[in-house]
Amino acid sequence: MKVMVVGCGDVGGATADVLEDYHGDGQVLRHDPAVEQRVRRGIASECDVVIFCIDTPSGPDGMLSIKALRDAVIEWAEKLAVDRVPAFVVRSTVPVGTCVELSRLAERPVLHWPEFGEHNVLREWIHAPPFAVVGGPSEEVIDQFIMGCLPWYVGLAQENASKIFKRPTNVSELTKLATNVLYAGTVVMANELARLGAVDGVEWEQSITPGGEQAWNVRSVIIMIISY
Ligand SMILES: NC(=O)c1ccc[n+]([C@@H]2O[C@H](COP(=O)([O-])OP(=O)(O)OC[C@H]3O[C@@H](n4cnc5c(N)ncnc54)[C@H](O)[C@@H]3O)[C@@H](O)[C@H]2O)c1
Repeated sequence: MKVMVVGCGDVGGATADVLEDYHGDGQVLRHDPAVEQRVRRGIASECDVVIFCIDTPSGPDGMLSIKALRDAVIEWAEKLAVDRVPAFVVRSTVPVGTCVELSRLAERPVLHWPEFGEHNVLREWIHAPPFAVVGGPSEEVIDQFIMGCLPWYVGLAQENASKIFKRPTNVSELTKLATNVLYAGTVVMANELARLGAVDGVEWEQSITPGGEQAWNVRSVIIMIISY
């Protein structure tokens, strides 16, 4: 299977590196004008999957901008041959409803495969995520993407090494946003506990659980929410 990664910053670069480990040299094309990795249209048209990892910066009001992502999706939908319709996959963090809108504009399935790892552990998370969510229009389309593009996920799920959730894209998008909200909540709580601890001379991280774990284990909360 040939894959093209569009947007090769932190998430896209790590995604392309890990995909290359599993699919081999020459099977993963990278496109990012900022890092001068342009791919020729002829070669891009051989791809089975196009994965978009474009930045979605938030404005002063906190809203994520998907303009660059939307423009790129439309551009590649027009460039790629209609008789060989590759699936599009979005790794960016996006507002709920984005992939449904993009699939209408691109006239092909647009899946969502959000990244939950932080930037310093991205490769580890892509290789072996403690949990992952893949959103798509149907379980069949999601399975096709996983079997063809992420074959190692199948092994991880069978070994119970990772929880792999298959959901509609709206749920996948909301799950990623929920993680960010929970992280933000954790920071607020940590600051407050540290403030209280400073007054009493208590190290709050140690006082929460016998194992010295973080007070609020975001990962288990997320798994609990999407398992429900
Ligand atoms: N960095 C992280 O740790 C992390 C973790 C989870 C989720 N995310 C999300 O993943 C997305 C990408 O984040 P990132 O940190 O990799 O951003 P980044 O800024 O490191 O990389 C984005 C890349 O996209 C490229 N790009 C923009 N428009 C393009 C176009 N039309 N064609 C090709 N390339 C284009 C830019 O040149 C840039 O190199 C964001 O939505 C972010 O919120 C990031």
